[in-house]
Amino acid sequence: MLDNAAITRRQLLVATSMVCAGGATSAQSLAGGAAQSLGKLAGRSSRLFGFAIHPEVAQKDPVRELVRQHGSVITAENAMKWRNVENAAGMADYTQADRVAAIANGLGVPLRGHTLAWHQSTPGYLTSATSAEFIRAQTGHAQAMTQRYKGRIHTWDVLNEVIDGEAPGGSGLRDSVLSKLWGTTRYPALFELARTSDPKAKLAYNDYGMEQDNPWCERRRTAVLRMLESWVRAGTPVDVMGLQAHLDLSRPFSAPVLLKFFDELRALGLRIQITELDARDSAVPGDIATRDAAVASLYRDFTQACFSHPAVEMMVMWNVTDGDSWINRWTQGQRRSDGQPMRPLLFDAQGQKKPAFVAVANAMRDASVQFEGYG
Ligand code: G3I
Repeated sequence: MLDNAAITRRQLLVATSMVCAGGATSAQSLAGGAAQSLGKLAGRSSRLFGFAIHPEVAQKDPVRELVRQHGSVITAENAMKWRNVENAAGMADYTQADRVAAIANGLGVPLRGHTLAWHQSTPGYLTSATSAEFIRAQTGHAQAMTQRYKGRIHTWDVLNEVIDGEAPGGSGLRDSVLSKLWGTTRYPALFELARTSDPKAKLAYNDYGMEQDNPWCERRRTAVLRMLESWVRAGTPVDVMGLQAHLDLSRPFSAPVLLKFFDELRALGLRIQITELDARDSAVPGDIATRDAAVASLYRDFTQACFSHPAVEMMVMWNVTDGDSWINRWTQGQRRSDGQPMRPLLFDAQGQKKPAFVAVANAMRDASVQFEGYG
């Protein structure tokens, strides 16, 4: 991905000018935004804000307190994935998933279910399954999860990451254990199963790499729109496009491009949830203040765009602090050339608010467009 190789000149200039001029996201203005609960600010425009959590981490401060103070929705980072629930055939263990559901219940906030079907969370025991065996097992798992948490899930990520904008032959669909053993033409059947099993849950298709302005994202947007359009035309019960939004400071961002995509999703009758937000700063050189200003600038532009669109319902961060971010735990992932950990979230490793927090708080506070609800 050539376009991802380096931070754009514009982003660096914006970041540098914010640091120098004490812009809207500088440390100076941190105090003003610091007292605010992001969940409450999002609520002003009838939206939700929250975090993906790991049950262990969520029981210790600072994560516990930040989730309590700012979260109005939570997602299980891993605990509800198939591989985490059922490691061996017929040996389902819901302990961790139940713990996340109990945390949501204790906080009195809605829970997103993540995720019923994902090639990466298929249990190892199914790698050499026949298609019939796989279909039986995947159906059983989706039934079990939707029944166990029936009435308690705001939105289920029914299907995760089946798009591949570079797929040979231009199918736009990822080649995976799911496409091979479940079958791409049977993807809508998962939504039908979920709707029948838990009729109150909203049903989402969830994927990454569609939020920024480069050819790779453009191909992925085209592919997902084609897939969703065919499902909607066939009457598939899909309500939501979940945009993961693992942003990357090396890619350009364009609000008009994102808003056009939002309009196209809305024209299909879908609502939009930002489901896994963070911002990788591996391409931003410099000291922490410069890096944090660049990250804040992207968060500001992104949040302003999202909160200006009536179809956007919620924004969920993927983890809570830079210290618990999956990006710094991901052994095969990108690394900074200076060896420093990345600073992708709104709170630093000590749980202190960063300029990105103020950028998001201000964008939420200034939002003039309400979430329109489900038609
Ligand atoms: O908990 C074990 C630990 O005991 C063990 O020592 C260690 C050794 O590798 O692994 C630990 O488990 C890891 C787990 O994350 C907890 O950190 C798993 O190996 C690792 O595979 C797992 O990765 C998760 C990944 O999905 C795969 O399920 C990440 O935490 C999680 O953030 C990531 O989330 C995905 C979304 O579900 C879908 N979108 C992309 C997003 C980021 O990749």
